[in-house]
Amino acid sequence: MSPSLTTTLPRGTILKDPILLASGCCGYGEEYLPIVHPSTYGGVITKAVSVTPRLGNEAPRLRETPAGLLNCIGLQNPGVDVLLDEVLPRINQLDYSYIVNVVGHTVEEFAELVSRVQRHCDEQGQGGMIGFELDLSCPNVDSGTTFATDLDVLRAVTAACRAETEQLIISKMTPNVTDMLPYAEASRESGADSITISNTLNGISIDIRTRKSNLGRPSAGLSGAAILPAVLYHIWRVHKAMKDYPIVGCGGIWDADSAIQHILAGATAIQLGTGLFMNPKLPIEVQQGLERYLTEQDEPDLDSIRGTYEYC
Ligand SMILES: Cc1cc2nc3c(=O)[nH]c(=O)nc-3n(C[C@H](O)[C@H](O)[C@H](O)COP(=O)(O)O)c2cc1C
Repeated sequence: MSPSLTTTLPRGTILKDPILLASGCCGYGEEYLPIVHPSTYGGVITKAVSVTPRLGNEAPRLRETPAGLLNCIGLQNPGVDVLLDEVLPRINQLDYSYIVNVVGHTVEEFAELVSRVQRHCDEQGQGGMIGFELDLSCPNVDSGTTFATDLDVLRAVTAACRAETEQLIISKMTPNVTDMLPYAEASRESGADSITISNTLNGISIDIRTRKSNLGRPSAGLSGAAILPAVLYHIWRVHKAMKDYPIVGCGGIWDADSAIQHILAGATAIQLGTGLFMNPKLPIEVQQGLERYLTEQDEPDLDSIRGTYEYC
């Protein structure tokens, strides 16, 4: 019998497999239809949406590093009106699961976004929508990470969003902390069903001739293979202390092996981000690699390997 990749998240969320596409790296999922249809894996997380449209930062917004990518997109998006009036009706026809990533300037804006998307689902139908991811941790805008690094603010925003929906809420953590455990505990206490570990690491790239930034901002967010070990550390640290709190691993996955490392460290589901830019067929390669690994290890499913990293 072939092993099962079926993945369960809180609030009755059942995914075909643990593979989700990370916010900001897949648009709304539509671009991937002709490559690998998102209905063949867990689903997609949409680009962050804000109350009003955002133009994002000045170019250049992307710069490759030897093993990763620096970005300072700055949360460019058309705003929630366009999401509700145009995007969701369109992608609800496409038969895949998606999570809506929301970002606000204030606690009230986060709550307003969740409330408006929820109302839209109640009135127009759920379509493929399976929950919310709170982008508490973008490093590419002024005060972007405050929501994820101030425990009181994190609790306030999570509780305010919780009050607006009965659906799955996943809070997205920043890796730019020494110890993520207090933030994970605060997320659970204030009503987040799960956490994503994590967003990008702070980084800079300097033009040595001008001595100025190579990007449109002084600093940016580092993603891709370069951040895998740092993200694994945070997943392991939180899972060890909070075994029953589901973690969505995100950071540095570029092949099946790195995806398996996320699950061995303690992740329940995983997200593919920068790896997609090098290999748009990555979801299928990871899916096949997970099946192959479970078969080779003679394990029936992902639950039996989750968090089994032995460090001594
Ligand atoms: C170009 C780009 C845009 C991103 N936009 C968002 C976003 O809108 N919201 C968000 O929560 N994370 C965003 N992220 C962060 C990713 O979702 C992910 O957390 C991060 O890239 C680490 O995963 P990776 O190493 O697999 O890319 C973005 C990342 C990149 C590279």
